[in-house]
Amino acid sequence: MKFNLGFLGGGQLARMSIQAAQRMGLTALSVDSSPKTPASRVAEARVGNLLEPESYIGFFNEVEYVLLENEFIDADRLRATMAKVGFPEERVTPSLESLGMIQDKLVQRQRLQMAGVSSPDAVEAERGPVELGFPLVLKSRRGGYDGKGTLMARTPEEYEAARPIWEKGGWLAESFVPFRRELAVMVMIDGQDRAWTYPTMISEQVDQVCDLVYPADVDASEIAVAAVRAMRGCGLYGVELFELEDGGLMVNEIAPRPHNSGHYTLDWGGPSQFEQHVRLSLGLLPAWPQGIEVAMANLLGQSDGPFQLLPAIEAAMEGDQGVYVHWYGKEQQRKGRKMGHINAVGPNGKKRAQEARARFYAAL
Ligand SMILES: Nc1ncnc2c1ncn2[C@@H]1O[C@H](COP(=O)(O)OP(=O)(O)OP(=O)(O)O)[C@@H](O)[C@H]1O
Ligand SMILES: [Mg+2]
Repeated sequence: MKFNLGFLGGGQLARMSIQAAQRMGLTALSVDSSPKTPASRVAEARVGNLLEPESYIGFFNEVEYVLLENEFIDADRLRATMAKVGFPEERVTPSLESLGMIQDKLVQRQRLQMAGVSSPDAVEAERGPVELGFPLVLKSRRGGYDGKGTLMARTPEEYEAARPIWEKGGWLAESFVPFRRELAVMVMIDGQDRAWTYPTMISEQVDQVCDLVYPADVDASEIAVAAVRAMRGCGLYGVELFELEDGGLMVNEIAPRPHNSGHYTLDWGGPSQFEQHVRLSLGLLPAWPQGIEVAMANLLGQSDGPFQLLPAIEAAMEGDQGVYVHWYGKEQQRKGRKMGHINAVGPNGKKRAQEARARFYAAL
């Protein structure tokens, strides 16, 4: 019998999606480059070179639907591999068409601009200084995450210092946006192009890694939906935005999958983003995205060594019955690596999530 769902990637996003699917009794398989992944601890897994779908071509015969947990696998390569085994493209979520546009950040920017969705001007890295001036942001067109693949070039000197990196090709330059805050919106679009959104969240970054997420006092849903529609999206997408000093909004980037800014939905009393990812992939109606106020703090690896999880969980929960700990079961802790997150439900969540995290780290 085939597995209902097949996840390309076995990280925390696949794991939490699988857990949502299992609640409905659905079966799941994941594939990743390493055998011990967060997903492999909760469901069966296969091993292959994730970025080379030909290396796990048999996987597509084992599953009914395919779901992505990152945007790094080349859409054309994926399409070609699936065609070889006759796996129908409509059974992949998010749509491969949108994956192709999103996975190259320069194409993504161009598409947004063509659709009239405000986002930073971007050109190939070589043309940045002449066409855009300074300050600039240099980005790897493909494969960036958690700020890996993003460099600030405030001055011509910084731009030249980074030359060995961008000169190899595949880098873009874009205008630096002097934003006031960063926002994020989860968007769902079904097969009939109907759209739903989760509440707008503020997402605070530290060293270009998401640190805290909590409800915003502004609504960015309109531009977020327009951004996903510009990618001809179908499925669940996370949209990252810049809020400018004058309240104007710009799209930073789109993630074609569950997103860190939606992890709070695991404890908000309503449907989680993972439940919706599974539903949309199966062509089911998404659940109404409504719940209560929750703030989230990411848990990053504190060292490269061993850790004590249970005492840390205990410390986080101490004295606060609205605190929930999520730990992804990664094989190894590494300093700065996303290892889990904490949700604080109810009022004053941002402060409570931060305090719980401090207690957690102290005991880990
Ligand atoms: N044009 C810009 N102007 C100002 N700051 C920027 C710009 N682009 C990116 N940043 C900052 O760098 C961070 C990381 O950039 P971006 O989101 O493009 O990369 P990423 O590595 O894909 O991130 P992640 O996967 O963590 O979301 C942003 O969250 C923002 O804080
Ligand atoms: Mg980002």
